[in-house]
Amino acid sequence: MSDNTDDIELRLLLDAIFRKYHYDFRGYSMASIKRRLLHAREKFGCGTFSLLQDKVLHDPTVMPELLTYLTVQVSELFRDPAYFRGIRQHVAPFLKTYPSIKVWVAGCSGGEELYSLAILFREEGLESRTMFYATDINPKALRRAEAGVYELDRLAAFTENHQLSGGKSSLSDYYTAAYGGAVFDKTLRKRVVFSDHSLVSDTVFAEVQLISCRNVLIYFDRELQDRAIGLFADSLSRQGFLGLGAKENLRFSRHADRFIEFSKEDRIYQKRGAS
Ligand SMILES: C[S@@+](CC[C@H](N)C(=O)[O-])C[C@H]1O[C@@H](n2cnc3c(N)ncnc32)[C@H](O)[C@@H]1O
Repeated sequence: MSDNTDDIELRLLLDAIFRKYHYDFRGYSMASIKRRLLHAREKFGCGTFSLLQDKVLHDPTVMPELLTYLTVQVSELFRDPAYFRGIRQHVAPFLKTYPSIKVWVAGCSGGEELYSLAILFREEGLESRTMFYATDINPKALRRAEAGVYELDRLAAFTENHQLSGGKSSLSDYYTAAYGGAVFDKTLRKRVVFSDHSLVSDTVFAEVQLISCRNVLIYFDRELQDRAIGLFADSLSRQGFLGLGAKENLRFSRHADRFIEFSKEDRIYQKRGAS
């Protein structure tokens, strides 16, 4: 980033957010953080990032709202269906040999990825031996994930994705329409722990057999991506699986040799046996 006044003020704002609220966006990819903070700056009616910093520091209502600008929440049930088909066809048979399974959905947003996996695990007969951990830094997103209610107009896309992912039943088996939304069956989250966890600053919290972390690392710079991938390697059991999004891969990571490419086209990696 250049040293023009805007960029200096932007860095000071990110420092202030970290010092006051411990949200650390300093290692995120700067171009996209800047774009999003420019929107926020306009929304809060501030001409400069310094004025926005003043608001963040002195008005406690500002940070929760700013977080919705800083974290991108786009998601979908069975988003990129080929990935879930890959999990179903290649990873599930492996997991079926385990007596108990832990799955970590890191950066779960409003829960779409979590419910996709919970449905897939039910369809594959894995549900009763699985615990899911769904984590994010955005508390609003975690509350949406716990509620499991989605807008009715998103269901057609969700249903199509589910079918394309190799879904073995009808998606309508898993929700009821109520209060103007689709309420997902609460038994799907009976075995889910929702928790606030940052890939930037927090540590390993469980030994897991599958991590699904998609469309999160794209917002980090290279160093932060490496930190997160190291955290994943440390959290996985031997031969555990890591699923990344279509735009992400391990190729440039210094932890790459701790994994093998299990299903290249689906961006599913397997931790090596002996690391
Ligand atoms: C674009 S969404 C991805 C949602 C879902 N994984 C998917 O692929 O559909 C990115 C999510 O990452 C979360 N996130 C951003 N920074 C994070 C961090 N440091 N630790 C954990 N989650 C983070 C955001 O709050 C947001 O919910």
